[in-house]
Amino acid sequence: MILSSHRRSISRGGAMDLIFGNVVPLVLGSLGVMVLYQLLQRYRQRAYIQDAVVVITGASSGLGKECARVFHAAGARLILCGRDRARLQELVQELKEVADSKQKTYTPSTVIFDLSDTETVASAAEEILKCHGHVDILINNAGVSYRGTILNTHVDVHKEVMGINYFGPVALTQAILPSMVQRRKGHVAVISSVQGKIAIPFRSAYAASKHATQAYFDCLRAEVEQYGLEVSVISPGYIRTNLSLNAVTGDGSKYGVLDKNTAEGRDPREVAEAVLRAVGRRKKDVLLAGPLPTLAVYIRTLCPQLFFKLMASRARKEQRPKED
Ligand SMILES: NC(=O)c1ccc[n+]([C@@H]2O[C@H](COP(=O)([O-])OP(=O)(O)OC[C@H]3O[C@@H](n4cnc5c(N)ncnc54)[C@H](OP(=O)(O)O)[C@@H]3O)[C@@H](O)[C@H]2O)c1
Repeated sequence: MILSSHRRSISRGGAMDLIFGNVVPLVLGSLGVMVLYQLLQRYRQRAYIQDAVVVITGASSGLGKECARVFHAAGARLILCGRDRARLQELVQELKEVADSKQKTYTPSTVIFDLSDTETVASAAEEILKCHGHVDILINNAGVSYRGTILNTHVDVHKEVMGINYFGPVALTQAILPSMVQRRKGHVAVISSVQGKIAIPFRSAYAASKHATQAYFDCLRAEVEQYGLEVSVISPGYIRTNLSLNAVTGDGSKYGVLDKNTAEGRDPREVAEAVLRAVGRRKKDVLLAGPLPTLAVYIRTLCPQLFFKLMASRARKEQRPKED
């Protein structure tokens, strides 16, 4: 009896030795490495954005405006693009007034153009390049959404959405790209959407434009890696912006409704900070969505039949494009 309790205390002592001698140092060591890695990542991110020439399209509202605020605060030399000169000037004024003693910041430039007109995009790209002689980071953010049934949507509406969401960023990227290749330096980012990975009913034009965007920028990443260029596709879920209000419908008119899912979406500031991290850390493909949309992306890939059934049932329930 005495012998067995002695053995138990020896084995307890052995276990304590194992924990304090091996496990605790291992856990503390791993935590230390993780903290160091995070600090290094943050340092690299800061150095990457500070003084970089960053172009943001669609900077007049929503996510683009918040990106302008966070990239400006991070010390980027911004070129803000949009169609509305007055709103962009207002933003420039706001950013000029933000003084941060810890961070060197720059007054942004603006370039006004309509992305749906590919000819003006080429001349806008020249104007963009003239601002600082080069572009370090191009963020293709501008976009328009759509609500409608395929049966009642005119083909011109598909062309319009495709023009802004796909051909616009393609034209701008292609106009800026040669100068990046020549410098062997540059980063092209695009704000796609979860709907660039899964297609949901009553969003055909939008989902198609974002799927095309994903494909084009995936090809671009592969083709320009040899020149040292980076490509990031960032795919958010719902964000609290005016996107649904500005969406077009099947007959080309404005949808004009702030959908419940958009109103309850993520704070654009939070998403803009995630965009800064993704770009700063040269992430290639980032899904910024909650558990349900993320699960839907996996189901679409791993179990497409189930995904198709779920989407058909959703379409039956909604009948018409009223919500989301
Ligand atoms: N909100 C969401 O739930 C959500 C989710 C996933 C992805 N996204 C994506 O996030 C990006 C930003 O959208 P947002 O949510 O911030 O919507 P938003 O508030 O409606 O902003 C859209 C921006 O795009 C610009 N734009 C629209 N058409 C243009 C054109 N023809 N030429 C030049 N600029 C044009 C607008 O500029 P004007 O002031 O000139 O109209 C505006 O600055 C879009 O690519 C969108 O697809 C949004």
